[in-house]
Amino acid sequence: MNQVNVGLCGLGTVGTGVVKLLQNHAEEIKYKVGCEIQIEKILVHDIDKKRDVAIQAEWLTDNPDELVNNAEIDIIIEVMGGIEDTNLLLEKAIRNKKHIVTANKDLMAVHGQKLLRLAKENNCDILYDASVAGGIPIIRSLTEGLASDRIQKIMGIVNGTTNYILTKMTDDKLAFEPVLKEAQDLGFAESDPTSDVDGLDAARKMALLANLAFKMEISLDDVEVSGIRTISQEDITFATSLGYTIKLIGIASINDNGKVEVSVEPTLLPKDHPLAMVKNEFNAVYVYGEAVGETMFYGPGAGSMPTATAVVSDLMDVVKNIRLGITGNEYILPQFQKQLKENDE
Ligand code: NAP
Ligand code: HSE
Repeated sequence: MNQVNVGLCGLGTVGTGVVKLLQNHAEEIKYKVGCEIQIEKILVHDIDKKRDVAIQAEWLTDNPDELVNNAEIDIIIEVMGGIEDTNLLLEKAIRNKKHIVTANKDLMAVHGQKLLRLAKENNCDILYDASVAGGIPIIRSLTEGLASDRIQKIMGIVNGTTNYILTKMTDDKLAFEPVLKEAQDLGFAESDPTSDVDGLDAARKMALLANLAFKMEISLDDVEVSGIRTISQEDITFATSLGYTIKLIGIASINDNGKVEVSVEPTLLPKDHPLAMVKNEFNAVYVYGEAVGETMFYGPGAGSMPTATAVVSDLMDVVKNIRLGITGNEYILPQFQKQLKENDE
């Protein structure tokens, strides 16, 4: 196999980064995966919009069938967002034997297990490392680097937009609304920033991490959520005067009876706490494992190139799996594996 062809769904903040990374690091990527990765089609809303990256005009389409039904395409990269329509698009793509790389935590938190099972049935890969904490390889670390351990607790800052807002409100005394606008202009916020501000984005990410860490199905309904909308400049000034910083903190833990608790809420942290020092759009995730003890992952949690790094690294893994003939082996929760086995029998 000399070439793998990709259909890219979305050419916004993340999609543009993906194209740039594939172009700028083409030599290294080819060397590491052993073949060319070629963009075949790009799905967008508006094919006439001016784009911030060098692309061939014939790549662009607003018709999803030109990707999902395209026999030339081996892998779909989904970086357009959305839940129900996007799920249908990806289901169709998987049935057409396309492998999937996605940055879409909303989709994975709602339909992830069904999609993973469908992918396994079709011998396809679905990788989604970019869906949690942007450029930090946290999903990869839970499923690979820490796979042998029993994870007991995960705690961290997993939303870049709210951390950016809280940082600017604290350090520069700026008001909420203009900083939210800045975070949108910088490409950190979701198309509907309500999900960032009200903690839903972080809750979905914590549910995904808890699924992987504790090998149980945790849905958004299981997460206690409150966001940062009600945090005022007065709250921040008061916290600062007492030596504290306010951060939106996600916590997922399992107790000795196997009960999992997951929450996302504004939290007062002493100023010298490691998570208090995480600024702007940066994220940090602390993972405590029975054998490994404390580990901490830190890096840019949102933005074009950091997120594209995670997407393209997943893409490279899929290409390597295709070349080795070992696709369709992602981790599926035990209860879904059982169902898969029953379907087989
Ligand atoms: P974005 O800048 O809004 O870009 C979305 C892209 O998808 C645009 O190119 C848009 O087309 C296209 N698109 C959206 N809906 C479409 C539809 N129904 N049909 C065809 N094209 C459609 O979004 P983004 O910030 O790149 O985020 C994309 C995904 O990555 C989301 O799931 C997000 O949660 C996730 N993510 C984002 C970040 C980040 O820092 N931004 C980080 C991690 C994960 P047009 O260009 O024509 O409008
Ligand atoms: N809107 C998200 C954030 C993008 O601010 O963290 C990264 O998932």
